[in-house]
Amino acid sequence: MIGVFDSGIGGLTVLKALALAFPEENFLYLGDTARLPYGSKSPQTIRLYSEQIMNFLLQHQVVAIVIACNSASSQVREDSYHSIPVYNVILPGAKAALKLSSSKVIGVLGTRATVQSGSYEKTLKSLDPNCEVFSQSCPLFVPLAEEGWIDDPVTNLIAFRYCQSLIAQQVDTVVLGCTHYPLLKSSLQKVFGSHVALVDSGEALVDILTQDFASGKLKKSSQKQRHIDILVTDFSAHFTHLAGQIMLPLVADSYAVTDLK
Ligand code: DGL
Repeated sequence: MIGVFDSGIGGLTVLKALALAFPEENFLYLGDTARLPYGSKSPQTIRLYSEQIMNFLLQHQVVAIVIACNSASSQVREDSYHSIPVYNVILPGAKAALKLSSSKVIGVLGTRATVQSGSYEKTLKSLDPNCEVFSQSCPLFVPLAEEGWIDDPVTNLIAFRYCQSLIAQQVDTVVLGCTHYPLLKSSLQKVFGSHVALVDSGEALVDILTQDFASGKLKKSSQKQRHIDILVTDFSAHFTHLAGQIMLPLVADSYAVTDLK
């Protein structure tokens, strides 16, 4: 079973990409809805919350942990935790952006925590020192996504305002550096235009896991019928409704609330 976590529904965009790509794997998802958002918290707090969740997932015998949250990925840079593999979304997102970009002028949209950490900029520059990186934090995007205002005039207007700085730099590729943002993809694509490529880190992560399954670094699940279980730290009918829509055509086997103990 693979453990996947985020502060809320955003990581479901990663879970869905993984669950579609690996139809025999079991997944345990944890959305820390009681403490959302992460993106406005300090590096220390984000690290503490992430460790608590990783310890919780370890107790549930996961064989790997996917940090389906850029804010947490920018603070937890280890690639293993208590000897199980840990996957963050920054490196796959950066690699995918460089592959897609012809001009190597790349934009990054993220939470304040992710943008202030400089993680994408450092990773992109370490992979290609000649690339140019422009970042923009978009603190209003997470509440809009959590509200389910997916392709809404209000979302379009806010997206238009946030994205101006990147449009002015003529980026040809934009990393959606928060796992909530793929939910707003249609608004963002409208604002940037179809000539700008948008990178969804969940999709980018599939390639890395595919390689690790092939090399044997990751062990395949042996169960006949796979399970997708979703836990939250604070339960609401709104969450399950939205999660159900995001996961389609997949359907989660269970939803439950946990206190991380
Ligand atoms: N979805 C998360 C991320 O990728 C967290 C957003 C938040 O809680 O602020 O950064």
